[in-house]
Amino acid sequence: MTTIKMGIVGAGTWGETHAFIYNDHPHAEFAAICDLNIERARALAQKFNLPESQVFSDHKEMLAKGGIDAVAIVTPDFAHTEVAIDCAKAGKHFIIEKPLTTSREEANAIMDAVKKHNVRMMVDLHSRWSPLFALPKQSIVDGEIGEPYSAYYRLNDIKWVATDLLPWAAKSSILWFLGYHSVDVLRWLFDDEVERVYSVSRAGVLQEAGVDTVDVYQTILEFRKGGIATMENGWITPNTNPNVNDMKLNITGTKGMFNIDPTHSQMLERFTETKADRPDLLVRHFIHGKPKGFAYESIRHFVDQLISGEPFLVTMEDAYNTTMVILAIMESAKTRTPVRVQY
Ligand SMILES: NC(=O)c1ccc[n+]([C@@H]2O[C@H](COP(=O)([O-])OP(=O)(O)OC[C@H]3O[C@@H](n4cnc5c(N)ncnc54)[C@H](O)[C@@H]3O)[C@@H](O)[C@H]2O)c1
Repeated sequence: MTTIKMGIVGAGTWGETHAFIYNDHPHAEFAAICDLNIERARALAQKFNLPESQVFSDHKEMLAKGGIDAVAIVTPDFAHTEVAIDCAKAGKHFIIEKPLTTSREEANAIMDAVKKHNVRMMVDLHSRWSPLFALPKQSIVDGEIGEPYSAYYRLNDIKWVATDLLPWAAKSSILWFLGYHSVDVLRWLFDDEVERVYSVSRAGVLQEAGVDTVDVYQTILEFRKGGIATMENGWITPNTNPNVNDMKLNITGTKGMFNIDPTHSQMLERFTETKADRPDLLVRHFIHGKPKGFAYESIRHFVDQLISGEPFLVTMEDAYNTTMVILAIMESAKTRTPVRVQY
């Protein structure tokens, strides 16, 4: 069977997540790494026994000399577009970490390049592989809760993500970082497109901490078929929250509802001499040395579908439309008016 040789652009936190999967997948190989910071690339290469000849600081050089079949684009949110277009031009399929990109013009440029050069592209909207959403989705498809009618989705991060984890938080937004997942999940569960949004935001807490970005957005989404959802995305949850995310979702249909509240799970609590926490059992962890969790499943899916030729569960249209909804939310919060989403 074919082996997909993967090159990774971006050797940060999530670049390493990709490396674990390509290293683990029986039909994939972590074959090349690129980072503007060559030392970061080298460190990841050494961890996975890649030779120095497969370490690059320029993605174009990796595309030309890396001997790869496909690429994982795992650069910061604002730095996806150029790499994506160059991958398409080089005839390489690619997976982009969410978001697709951060502007309408760049989203159009990526879509055009993918179509023109006939490559395959998936944006890693991994929430669809979480049992917390996949089970409700199946149940909705089976008609168990009738038509999805109203939803409340809160998805926040602790402050540390903006102040310490991401050096580029001020050049992005909690909407690109988490709101993108929220919009995708809601579109998927409602099986519908967002028509109109109204969002209110607040800034100040993170600015005071030296990170010039919005603290929190509260948004109402109106779907074409009539469904409504309220969505909260912030990154000012206190660092003492036992989980990086603070997440809750209620979706009420015409005949039933789901309540999802994973961050209050006390299934596993750990107390050491220096900390008390609730280790992640869903997103990303290791069992007997093997990477497990839904964040890994979506990346596996990309490789599986490249091999089988089957369509990706997340389509290009999903990523494009989600990007357009986020842009409308930002405009609404800025202008303090409801905004119709322009697709
Ligand atoms: N699926 C998810 O839920 C999820 C989770 C975390 C991060 N992400 C996404 O993954 C992406 C990366 O996030 P991260 O936390 O790993 O960031 P990071 O800052 O840890 O790593 C990014 C790396 O990209 C490198 N880089 C920047 N521009 C580059 C370029 N043009 N060429 C090569 N290297 C370049 C940087 O030097 C850095 O090492 C972001 O888009 C983020 O939103 C997705």
